[in-house]
Amino acid sequence: MYQELFFPVIDTERLTLKPLVIDDSGSLLEIFSDPEVMRYWNTAPWATIQDSIDFINESNDSMRRQESLILGVHLKSTGELAGKCMLFGYDKESKRAEIGFGLGRSCWGKGYIGEAGEALVQYGFDSLGLRRIEAEIDPDNQPSAKALEKLGFSREGLLRQRWEVNGVVSDSAMYGRLVSDHPAQHN
Ligand SMILES: CC(C)(COP(=O)(O)OP(=O)(O)OC[C@H]1O[C@@H](n2cnc3c(N)ncnc32)[C@H](O)[C@@H]1OP(=O)(O)O)[C@@H](O)C(=O)NCCC(=O)NCCS
Repeated sequence: MYQELFFPVIDTERLTLKPLVIDDSGSLLEIFSDPEVMRYWNTAPWATIQDSIDFINESNDSMRRQESLILGVHLKSTGELAGKCMLFGYDKESKRAEIGFGLGRSCWGKGYIGEAGEALVQYGFDSLGLRRIEAEIDPDNQPSAKALEKLGFSREGLLRQRWEVNGVVSDSAMYGRLVSDHPAQHN
């Protein structure tokens, strides 16, 4: 029963969130090999189908270990894979996890993360019993900051020079949303 908690299928109005399968590897590679999508990520763009397969296998392993929830975001209208969203760094005792998301470029600006993110946040609070969900983003990533604010996250601080990727040093902006915070305003 507890195992199933980490392999949910979550429906929203336009989207279905569900665990990734190997058949998703081609679409996933297309999205995460795009340097624009990976611009603010702390890893380089994916290069080969093996990167995608490894990600899917590692995601499912970490879900089996009940450490994270990594879900593909599918458009209900076409079945197309729009991207992924996740709760990771799950700390059961502290009832906390981190949220992350990434969509293919053609799916930006349509409010999909408002929809997928809110469903994931509610799943985290209601089903995993989380008290706090946090997010760490590059402070220059305006679309992500806006998406988080629309999801009811508050900016809590700035961690200076936290990352170095390919010789580029960057800060992290920290966001948090508590189960006791007011509901998200995006609707
Ligand atoms: C960040 C991201 C998840 C936001 O999801 P989304 O579903 O596009 O979010 P929204 O539709 O609510 O748009 C959020 C903001 O993105 C910006 N945006 C929208 N369309 C855009 C486009 N075509 N190009 C660039 N920015 C755009 C807008 O500023 C928008 O704010 P607004 O609603 O006030 O206009 C998505 O853009 C993405 O996957 N980006 C690449 C990966 C990434 O950076 N992930 C986060 C790492 S922590």
